[in-house]
Amino acid sequence: MDQNEYYNSIFKRKSIRNFDLRPLDDDTLVDISTHLRALESMHDDIKVELKIISPDSVKRRMMKRAPHYIAVFSEAKAGYLTNIGFMLQQIDLYLSHNSLGSCWQGIPSPKKEVLESSNLEFVIFIAFGKPKDPQSLHRTKISEFKRKSLHEITDIKGADELLEAVRLAPSSTNGQPWFFTGDENIINVLAVKPNFVKALLVKDYYLIDIGIAIYHLKVAAEHLGKKTEILFDEPVKSDAFKGYEYIISLKLD
Ligand SMILES: Cc1cc2nc3c(=O)[nH]c(=O)nc-3n(C[C@H](O)[C@H](O)[C@H](O)COP(=O)(O)O)c2cc1C
Repeated sequence: MDQNEYYNSIFKRKSIRNFDLRPLDDDTLVDISTHLRALESMHDDIKVELKIISPDSVKRRMMKRAPHYIAVFSEAKAGYLTNIGFMLQQIDLYLSHNSLGSCWQGIPSPKKEVLESSNLEFVIFIAFGKPKDPQSLHRTKISEFKRKSLHEITDIKGADELLEAVRLAPSSTNGQPWFFTGDENIINVLAVKPNFVKALLVKDYYLIDIGIAIYHLKVAAEHLGKKTEILFDEPVKSDAFKGYEYIISLKLD
């Protein structure tokens, strides 16, 4: 799948929660496993383990059943949740492009056998399979995305085309906890920390959300012909980003 196909998926994808419960055929599952092994990472020094598991190993907690789940495990090092968002959003776009449905799922929890199958920390599931209604797979109009407007998520002028693809990124409880500042050559990615009550409900999923947005940002920048580099050092004093948590900057050439 090339960069343009990832880019095009951004404008069509949506979370699928109603699945055809028949398992996918072996060839398709092998193809997805191959793709999972090739995901690009933001931090090569953080170990990640991804396993395709059956719904019988998932405590679904009110969520509808899916025929398959990706169980995501990671070493719990600095930046790991953002890294998980960045990596697994590639599979969300890939599945959507290949006529399959998926949904990030923070609510379900793994059964004991899944937890014991890895030495790494369990992070999240991604449910996937064929959508029950194939017509429901894609959005056909941007207005079908319930999202903040561009001026609510950035103060950069002249980067609308770039940031439109980021605006549409999925996030837990659709919170869209991101803000972009800087200019067309360097985009600083900031996170809106959840307030105390929300933090109890949503754990640190906002950092996964930010990783998802960073992946969309990178795809969009490369689609527009830019070379990208992720910078991890805060470029200006953090009080310039009052109320926000600085995550990374994306340098565009
Ligand atoms: C980290 C994360 C966790 C999520 N957890 C759940 C979940 O447990 N259950 C669910 O139905 N949707 C979950 N979602 C899906 C979001 O609700 C969805 O992405 C958002 O409402 C935007 O809708 P869209 O994906 O259809 O564009 C999660 C999304 C993310 C990014």
